[in-house]
Amino acid sequence: MTMEQKNMIVEKLRDAGCVFAEEEADILLSTAKNNVHLITMVDQRVSGMPLEYVVGWAEFCGLKIQIDKGVFVPRKRTEFLVQKAITLVRSGATVVDLCCGSGALGVAVCSTLESFQLYAADIDRNAIICARRNVQPLGGQVYEGDLYHALPEYLFGQVDLLIVNAPYVPTNEIDLLPSEARIHEAQVALDGGLDGLDIHRRVARDASHWLDSGGHLIMETSEQQAPHAREIFYQNGLSAQVIQSEEFEANVVIGKKK
Ligand SMILES: C[S@@+](CC[C@H](N)C(=O)[O-])C[C@H]1O[C@@H](n2cnc3c(N)ncnc32)[C@H](O)[C@@H]1O
Repeated sequence: MTMEQKNMIVEKLRDAGCVFAEEEADILLSTAKNNVHLITMVDQRVSGMPLEYVVGWAEFCGLKIQIDKGVFVPRKRTEFLVQKAITLVRSGATVVDLCCGSGALGVAVCSTLESFQLYAADIDRNAIICARRNVQPLGGQVYEGDLYHALPEYLFGQVDLLIVNAPYVPTNEIDLLPSEARIHEAQVALDGGLDGLDIHRRVARDASHWLDSGGHLIMETSEQQAPHAREIFYQNGLSAQVIQSEEFEANVVIGKKK
């Protein structure tokens, strides 16, 4: 690939509105198996397909996470949740990533541990297939089903860390999302119900049954939702703390089983 060809790709991406056209061109060039593949990928990206679906992976916490079309692309802001989660666990921990999507969060947390038991679960079949490709190489297991119903019963009271980045967009705000999310990601990955906290309520309600004593639940929310989520945690017998990051523009609620 000559410099002139690279510049042509950058220009095409810029014209299509890609803000990080240079970086994206490099990613496309390093992923392309041949010229035909490259042209196909550039066309897909120019037509608005998220870069992660075009190349089949996303960078998250310095790791290369496999991403299939329609599966939620892990967001940069969620790296804050991972950073906080890492401070809550030690080697040997039992970690559950509920609403796992690609499985990126559990993989990122457990990659920092010498030993661990990793379980991930999601309701969406596409996410399960994708998560297995990320989680199984680490020795983790992925289950399909509605929240805790997916998990094996022997985990009851055994979980040290419950990581949950559930959908939290209020239903009537989905139309306001950028097209990359609204058009390309599954509705089930985005829709958090009327106030965006439907899944948070259900997760908090049963968390104490699954957590070991002193175990933690960590969930991402919006800034507006965070105080409500903290209240939901309290109501369900968890201590709760909201932590905010200006750098990541992220909010997490951390609950501890009393
Ligand atoms: C916002 S995405 C987050 C995915 C992943 N945790 C991440 O941060 O990249 C939410 C995920 O929750 C899953 N989900 C939605 N409702 C669920 C439910 N009732 N039980 C299990 N998973 C659910 C969706 O399929 C989607 O993969």
